[in-house]
Amino acid sequence: MRFKEKVVFITGGTKGLGKAMAKAFVDEGAKVGVNGRNKDAVARFEDEFKGKDVLAFNADIGKYEEMESAAENIVKTWGRVDILINNAGIVNPLMPAEKIKKEDFDRVIDINLKGTFYATQIFGKRMIEQKCGRIISIASQVGYFGEKGFLPYSISKSSLMIMTRSIAHEWSRFGVTACAVAPGFIKGGMNEGLIKKEVFVDFLSKRTPVNRMGGVDELVSLILFLASEQAVYINGDTITFDGGMTGYTQEPLLDFIMKGR
Ligand SMILES: NC(=O)c1ccc[n+]([C@@H]2O[C@H](COP(=O)([O-])OP(=O)(O)OC[C@H]3O[C@@H](n4cnc5c(N)ncnc54)[C@H](OP(=O)(O)O)[C@@H]3O)[C@@H](O)[C@H]2O)c1
Repeated sequence: MRFKEKVVFITGGTKGLGKAMAKAFVDEGAKVGVNGRNKDAVARFEDEFKGKDVLAFNADIGKYEEMESAAENIVKTWGRVDILINNAGIVNPLMPAEKIKKEDFDRVIDINLKGTFYATQIFGKRMIEQKCGRIISIASQVGYFGEKGFLPYSISKSSLMIMTRSIAHEWSRFGVTACAVAPGFIKGGMNEGLIKKEVFVDFLSKRTPVNRMGGVDELVSLILFLASEQAVYINGDTITFDGGMTGYTQEPLLDFIMKGR
């Protein structure tokens, strides 16, 4: 029971990777709050976790007042908040930069960047008051170098890495530390639809030197480690979690030369 009596809030924790994290924290003794926009998903989450120490809110991270109210509720119920996982995020419809619609660009920035900052500030203020807290943000591997078609998403995720540094610089003196994780392609969450087709799993696997996608359980283990006392000195950094995909070239020059070309 690594997180007994700890209070954890996971944005977008009603589905996908966030929900897997919620389950793991609950199993480790934590009290867990989550939020999401979809009312049915919130209700399903409450149903699934009936009898456990969980609270689920129908709240949009892009709406400051809704997040304020969720945070107030958490603190009123459990007295504090120890760990915030900034997990909620959306990807833009994949599109070349010259064709991205303004509303799609704005939606991604409003949720992934502005919404994540709102959650960080709202929960961070409570952590500053209690003089301790840990903030972990889920960025993305495309936040390092971008990728064709992912412009708004890449910018938003890159910004989370800088936000993490800034928070570490500003709030460590109050006992509040921060780090981020940059996953590659995970076999779950927003890829649930894609991975039903073997051709996509093959395609995405080949992009990593380990020749497979990342496991949801593997990512969850990393998050639990980063939230634990053992990882407290990891502050301001983004941990890459991509099976070696960053900088990996599928056909390196050496292979080309060795083929005698
Ligand atoms: N899966 C991957 O391979 C991968 C790789 C790199 C990074 N990530 C990041 O990991 C995080 C989780 O992704 P996932 O794969 O689990 O995706 P997912 O299955 O689509 O889940 C995203 C969650 O975020 C919530 N959400 C989205 N916008 C929200 C908003 N405005 N307010 C509150 N909740 C919101 C969604 O709930 P509602 O729709 O009900 O609001 C949902 O619960 C994201 O930040 C994503 O960018 C994922």
